[in-house]
Amino acid sequence: MRKPVIAGNWKMYKTIAEAVDFVEKIRPVADKASHCEAIVAPPFTALRAAAEAARGSALRVAAQNCHWDKEGAHTGDVATVMLRDAGCTHVIIGHSERRHDCGETDEQVNKKVKAALAAGLTPIVCVGETLEEREKGETEKVLECQFMRGLAGLTPADFSRIMIAYEPVWAIGTGRTATPEMAAQAHGFLRRLARQQFGASEPDGVRILYGGSVKPDNIGGLMAQEEIDGALVGGASLKVDSFTALINYLRG
Ligand code: PGA
Repeated sequence: MRKPVIAGNWKMYKTIAEAVDFVEKIRPVADKASHCEAIVAPPFTALRAAAEAARGSALRVAAQNCHWDKEGAHTGDVATVMLRDAGCTHVIIGHSERRHDCGETDEQVNKKVKAALAAGLTPIVCVGETLEEREKGETEKVLECQFMRGLAGLTPADFSRIMIAYEPVWAIGTGRTATPEMAAQAHGFLRRLARQQFGASEPDGVRILYGGSVKPDNIGGLMAQEEIDGALVGGASLKVDSFTALINYLRG
């Protein structure tokens, strides 16, 4: 019922030429992969070129951040309408690197989610606990807080248009993946929260992706979990071979 999503978050990697080359190689893979949706999230400078290179294929292009205002005096920021203009269909919001590097708050995440929805973009909203929070037994408390504040004021119809990415901070770029069972437990918790907050039907359709050191050799185990609807992948999304293997994952 929920079509899996394999999304590559390129972070601060790839020039325009490298992005175009990657998209040209991966678009036939995305077109053949009827079992899942494939998305790449290049840096701002390469969005337009990547979207042009992906045009006419099933591959979608996401931005890695946005501002909530339509325009204004915000040096260095990019508005959601500009992302649409560049050819994006999705935008990652509240990634832990933005929360930690740039002090992004749940309140800002909330404004960005609303702005993205208003511009017709699909927000991929990231939540996740730090190692310290997990060790203190606070994982669910942290997830609940990020979920409730980050998605405050959304209607059930709005909620049905977003994706959530559960990304435990301790698993990002560390080679330390949550076990499929740990990830599924957090996903189950998020979906129960969603049902409480947004009613019975919409939350059943919302895709919850897992992120944090997903690689071709561990994606099968993660995707075997019913609660896991896809992956948001950093490091392993940068090479055509490994991203191809991720898109063509086999459950098991
Ligand atoms: P990683 O990054 O796959 O390199 O751990 C995931 C992410 O930050 O989305």
